[in-house]
Amino acid sequence: MESVPLKLPANLNLNTGTRKAAGDLVNDLVSPHRKGLLLAMALNLVVGISVTFQNLLPKFIMDDALLKEGLDLEQRRQRLFLFALLYVFVGIVLRAGVWHGSLRIFGRIRERCVSRLRSRFFNHVNRLCISFHNRHNSGELFSYLFGSPLTHVQQYYSLLALMLPHEVVSLTLTLVFLGSWDLLLTGVILISICVHFLVQIRARLLIREIQHDFQKTEAKVSGKVADMLRGHRAMKLYAVEESADRDFGRELDIIHDKSYWREIRSHLQQIKQESVLYIGYASLSILAGWRFLGGHITEGQLTAYLTSYIALQGPLRTFFQLALLRGSSQASLERMAALLTTESSTPDPETGVADVPLRGEIVFDHVTFGYGEEPVLSDVSLTIPFGQKVALVGPSGAGKSTIAQLILRLYDPQQGRILFNGIDIRSFSGSALRRRFGVVPQDPYMFNCSIRDNLTLVDPDADDAKLREVCEQANAWEFIEDLPQGLDTMLGEGGCTVSGGQRQRLAIARALLMEPSFFVFDEATSALDTLSEERIRDAMSRVTEGRTALFIAHRLASVENCDRILVLENGRITQDGSYAELAAAPGMFRDLLRTQNVR
Ligand SMILES: Nc1ncnc2c1ncn2[C@@H]1O[C@H](COP(=O)(O)OP(=O)(O)OP(=O)(O)O)[C@@H](O)[C@H]1O
Ligand SMILES: [Mg+2]
Repeated sequence: MESVPLKLPANLNLNTGTRKAAGDLVNDLVSPHRKGLLLAMALNLVVGISVTFQNLLPKFIMDDALLKEGLDLEQRRQRLFLFALLYVFVGIVLRAGVWHGSLRIFGRIRERCVSRLRSRFFNHVNRLCISFHNRHNSGELFSYLFGSPLTHVQQYYSLLALMLPHEVVSLTLTLVFLGSWDLLLTGVILISICVHFLVQIRARLLIREIQHDFQKTEAKVSGKVADMLRGHRAMKLYAVEESADRDFGRELDIIHDKSYWREIRSHLQQIKQESVLYIGYASLSILAGWRFLGGHITEGQLTAYLTSYIALQGPLRTFFQLALLRGSSQASLERMAALLTTESSTPDPETGVADVPLRGEIVFDHVTFGYGEEPVLSDVSLTIPFGQKVALVGPSGAGKSTIAQLILRLYDPQQGRILFNGIDIRSFSGSALRRRFGVVPQDPYMFNCSIRDNLTLVDPDADDAKLREVCEQANAWEFIEDLPQGLDTMLGEGGCTVSGGQRQRLAIARALLMEPSFFVFDEATSALDTLSEERIRDAMSRVTEGRTALFIAHRLASVENCDRILVLENGRITQDGSYAELAAAPGMFRDLLRTQNVR
């Protein structure tokens, strides 16, 4: 087949102008809560003032109580007691109490924003096209909803709203007080803070690199492990448990090594930062002692300088954590924003969505389609009148399932159109179109819930009598009846607790329950014994009466009753006619019949 490279839909690539998109996303989430946020931050400022008071209290205890001239012993005791009471009041009511209030307000807002983000992300990703899902694995998408990316964002904004305001206030106010007492000593503190900052920035870059490297390894290993766990049946089947254990052991060694060195290297960076603080403290002690001995500062101020230097480390730690988290939180937000602005390659029309007719012919008008650059279907033209039963046959990989997926608008063709009752199916909403179809795919998926829930998924109002009716038509009732819990039997992950044939029969029942105008059966009975297949085929011909049905099949005996047979080879329809016509004519259909020993 000639291969003309196809132009792929450009909007499938992730949007790269994401910095602004991330900002817009945060704005959008936060804007309904601006007042609450401002209140939480204002309360936080009160906390900052309380912390400053606590930082500087040693000065007042020394200068205004213990060493105050002109007071007798009793008065000094009383003042000491008063200061102690004040300390407790400020600590419990203003610092802890008000902080708790701001935490309550902010916590509620944060959880609302996170829920909105999760729901928006889930709804959007849920509606994105199959091509998108082919490119992004479920583990990755799941991690955005409940994994570390969102946790980083939460932690970053919690620090920003709950810690930063009071840390900034306490740092600034403390420095202002200290500066009003002695500029030289305050200058030393400031220099120490600046040096600490510089060391911090370098350390931050190094730690980020280490973290990034570790996360990459961890993501790779967890992806592999998740794949092994999902493929546990295949592992047992091929008896490769031992080599899987060995593989896992090797991966663990890598993680173990990386995790160890991550901690050691991060700790070395921490030691560097602490060393700067210790050197700063030693210099401050010498200088402060010198200024005290020179009579420039009081005992109380000396004490306040020495104690506040330690207290100022709190804000420094917060700044450091903020700087560390900023990168990962921004990266997560940008990635989420990029996913949220990714458009579907099969978008619903923005305006003028057409109603999907109840019935109508299906027309392929010079359709060319490929998943990548290579076309899988080339210039397919075809008309299926309403009510016709059409069989699609041909070698594996010829493009049969692809035709079904195009009819269902899971993909849009790159060239040509598909019309439904004369209307281009791109004018319909994809899900409205698919609701008209009862589909039994080649590999039907069962959710990890009961048989009943798997069926009522498509019709929540169906009662037991209705479920029984469709299950009987699909030949599924006979095995459901034998199950101790009947319709309430749980199906396990991917429907692993029932056989392949039983899964197919449940999928047929599910399709029947939709009472569609069109059926697509893609190898719907391939896992059944011939007797069951025959019985289901009878049922199928009954239920498809007066409706359109597309049967994709390898077993040609199963399509004998169809009105029309289409033979697909290498993405082109090479034969089109009744069973008898094609059986009599030279061509692939007759060859296939011969190989299957069907007359
Ligand atoms: N999601 C996909 N991404 C890329 N290529 C795909 C995808 N799905 C199918 N293909 C390729 O498209 C071609 C047609 O696949 P299709 O599933 O339509 O074949 P088929 O006729 O249904 O085969 P079978 O009888 O084995 O089910 C194959 O070469 C297949 O590898
Ligand atoms: Mg197929």
